Amino acid sequence: MCGIFAYQGTKNSIPLLVDGLRTLEYRGYDSAGVVGVNSAGDVFSQKAIGKVSNLATKVEKHKTSSIYTTGIAHTRWATHGTVTEANTHPHTSENQRFYIVHNGIIENYKELKKSLSQKYHFYSDTDTEVVAKLIEDNYETDLKTTLEKVSLLLTWAYSLAVIDVEKPNMIVGIKLGSPLIVGKSSNGVFISSDVNALASVAGSYATLEDHEMVIIESWEYQVYMSGAMIRKDAQDMDIEYDVDELGAFSTYTEKEIHDIPSVLENVFQWRMNFSDMSLHNETLEELFEHDIDRIEIISSGSSYYAGMIGSYMIKDMAAIPVQVTISSEFLADIFLPDDKTLYVFLSQSWETADVRESLKIVQAKWCLTFWIVNVVGSTIARLTDMGLYSHAGVEVWVASTKNVIAQVGVLLMMAMSLWLKRNLQYSQARALIAELSELGSKIDEVLVQWPRIREIAKKYTKYQSMFVLGRNIFYPVSGEASLKCKELSYIHTESYSAGELKHGPLALVSPEFPCIVFNPEGKSYIKTVSNIKEIRAREGTVLGFVTKWEEQEDLYDDIIEIPKTSEIISVFTSLVASYLFALYLAEELDRDVDKPKNLAKSVTVE
Ligand code: F6R
Repeated sequence: MCGIFAYQGTKNSIPLLVDGLRTLEYRGYDSAGVVGVNSAGDVFSQKAIGKVSNLATKVEKHKTSSIYTTGIAHTRWATHGTVTEANTHPHTSENQRFYIVHNGIIENYKELKKSLSQKYHFYSDTDTEVVAKLIEDNYETDLKTTLEKVSLLLTWAYSLAVIDVEKPNMIVGIKLGSPLIVGKSSNGVFISSDVNALASVAGSYATLEDHEMVIIESWEYQVYMSGAMIRKDAQDMDIEYDVDELGAFSTYTEKEIHDIPSVLENVFQWRMNFSDMSLHNETLEELFEHDIDRIEIISSGSSYYAGMIGSYMIKDMAAIPVQVTISSEFLADIFLPDDKTLYVFLSQSWETADVRESLKIVQAKWCLTFWIVNVVGSTIARLTDMGLYSHAGVEVWVASTKNVIAQVGVLLMMAMSLWLKRNLQYSQARALIAELSELGSKIDEVLVQWPRIREIAKKYTKYQSMFVLGRNIFYPVSGEASLKCKELSYIHTESYSAGELKHGPLALVSPEFPCIVFNPEGKSYIKTVSNIKEIRAREGTVLGFVTKWEEQEDLYDDIIEIPKTSEIISVFTSLVASYLFALYLAEELDRDVDKPKNLAKSVTVE
């Protein structure tokens, strides 16, 4: 959350910074700001509420002929203080000498602000402004020693970039918890919150570790740790960050839903052999060298629901108990380590602070860890025992769709692999692999139904609240569908186990409070039909995501048809159908589906 971008070099920093922010905008789009300084120490500063494009318009309008060779910029996801220009970064010291951008949360900012308030005025409600005032208050000879001192006063997390207008050829960056990458090009040095924003401008890059400080001076940089210069090897820029063109689609969310069949090809490629119907994966094979009798999956948001879906697959096939824990709750709870448990960290971005912190707790007890992450080259690959990429490709905007499907695909392979090892069910596994070879075309059968799904979604825009229901493996499917509906459309949706409705929530059901029910053919079909009847008996409106609807047509007001397949395959197809439904619900209500309000793609604060 929040993106930092900085540049010191021979070129005018301002357009480079605004371009960098465009790539980082997924980290927050509440407001954006930029400050540049030229060799004479003159400052150029602009801030704008809302998207980076608003800042770009302002920058263009106030363009000057001066070359601001040093600059810092920020795109904000508000944590402390509402969305106003005053709360937009960069923030400044009282003497207007130091400018600062920050990603993270300074947890002790209130105490610090209280003591500084006697000496300084505060113009924002942010925790960041406190750091700017602290720098001024502690400044003695140079920014390096000042920041070393100031960093000891801060309760993390932070990544900071600071400029001193009296030393206009310098930027200092420091990090603890939040990410910071330094990139070098032939014309200068950059700092960024992620490597993707550096891909088109830097020839090499280095990822800073916690407590490291980078000092950029006259287009060169040095890295320090505890005051001493350290050797930091840079690696060649091997990342290509090409965001696909939208093509015929009007939003990235829509495009990414339609990318799902090809994403699944990537997920299974090299890991599943569709000609001899077998499964090959060295990492999964390696799992069997360990004595595992339990699995705990730790994740957040959509990744939590993907983990839940995977847990049903693993329990069902491999008969291994699986617990799925929301990462912030894992942190809030007591950790009782178990040396026969495999701890699986499931995250598309590997930026989610709660998941990262959970990993530290598990690793401190030397437990066996496994990662499933989408972002290739992520630090988690170096930190844990083993893992697999979900290979969903870049998900440009906030709502995760194709990545959730890829995560479920990876967990399914884990389940199958453990199943084969433990129960030697080769013929059943071959039958499932044969079905998976057809999965892309089954999903295509859902995607082509988009006009009908759009029509149905339009009908449901009139409701204020809806329940989303499912049983067994379709319970987490309903959770993920509900999350996507509320996140994109802002309609209040709430997921329940279909069997749980009668224990209280049924009181809310009425023709104006509909229920969306996932009930494709499978283990729980009959019992869920009974629950639907209970809703109908109370005149509740029902939208069914179903395969076997001909027999039960009178149960539903509306039907979204899922192809007839095995239950596992219909988990994937149901998710895809629900994504289309959520997308159209939102579009019909004129929402910005790529950038839903109040959200950001990576959640780097606890
Ligand atoms: C919702 C969504 C979020 C993320 C959550 C965890 O569409 O994408 O709920 O799933 O913020 O993020 P990762 O998976 O990066 O740890």
